[in-house]
Amino acid sequence: MSDAPLLEVRDLSIRFGAVTAVSSVGFSVAKGEVFGIVGESGAGKSAAARGIIGLLPPSARLGGSVRFRGEELVGASQARLRSVRGSEIGYVFQDALTALDPVRTIGAQLVEVLRVHRKVRPREALAAAAELLAELQIADPERTLRSYPHQLSGGMRQRAVIAAALIADPALIIADEVTSALDVTVQRKVLDLLLGVCAARGAGVILITHDLGVVAQTCDRVAVLYGGIVAEEADVFALFDRPMHPYTRALLQSMPRIGDSAPFRPIPGSAIQIFGELRACPFADRCDRVTPACRSALPPVQRTGKSTHRCLHPLAVPA
Ligand SMILES: Nc1ncnc2c1ncn2[C@@H]1O[C@H](COP(=O)(O)OP(=O)(O)OP(=O)(O)O)[C@@H](O)[C@H]1O
Ligand SMILES: [Mg+2]
Repeated sequence: MSDAPLLEVRDLSIRFGAVTAVSSVGFSVAKGEVFGIVGESGAGKSAAARGIIGLLPPSARLGGSVRFRGEELVGASQARLRSVRGSEIGYVFQDALTALDPVRTIGAQLVEVLRVHRKVRPREALAAAAELLAELQIADPERTLRSYPHQLSGGMRQRAVIAAALIADPALIIADEVTSALDVTVQRKVLDLLLGVCAARGAGVILITHDLGVVAQTCDRVAVLYGGIVAEEADVFALFDRPMHPYTRALLQSMPRIGDSAPFRPIPGSAIQIFGELRACPFADRCDRVTPACRSALPPVQRTGKSTHRCLHPLAVPA
């Protein structure tokens, strides 16, 4: 079925001991789509991303369902997950700059990634790596391939890490704050290069970020995470035009605006950590629309058209 989602996450939950990082999260990503996940620190973005590809520490408990091209990944064997990672789902994580091996050249590392997943000769692999580095606008790919990580600038190293995630031509890329370690001026460029390569190859992208400006300019759909739940999910225009969840509105209001003299309006209250099972709206303590009902149960997922929200008192009436 051609319109089946590339990735379908249902009722995903992740616990680290007493801490609940993710509670019944659901969303799907279509082929070629750029799907944003936003939310402040501790919202569960990275935990969800790692859960999807089976990269959680052994102590974590994972529940629910993650279907990639129809195949269930929750409970899949380690061998199968290893093969999915890198070859079918590429990922670049927050701490990506430490992902490179300091004592091997960029070329050796890229060739290895490709040869683990694809039957190609070393010379072909090296040519593919050079081509990809050129696509990522690295001026002298051959020289970069011969370099060790410490010989490259942060921006170049980050592109090498991105190249490693893309080289086996995965259908889905998970990019978790990939540019946050970089200088602001290079961040956007590197992200655009990543998205450009994904678009050229028709790969879907899950883009995890704090930056709503980036979301507005690059994503097709967005899930807003708060306290480990998807507070709201919608296409990017609906989300910015007509947020349904008070948390989404608060996030949008905290966005700096060009020419604003007092640009940042932090949301009252601090980010939360959830212990045990979530039995109330996690945003209740910070919400100006809260009622006792919000504190007596986790609001159910409400679906309107292609959007969802989990709020008993949504801001907008669905169109
Ligand atoms: N390995 C771990 N062991 C214990 N708790 C963890 C672990 N990883 C994450 N957590 C907890 O799970 C929750 C979600 O963390 P997560 O890293 O997914 O947040 P995040 O949305 O990615 O935040 P950030 O924007 O800061 O990257 C937090 O309360 C965090 O403390
Ligand atoms: Mg994170």
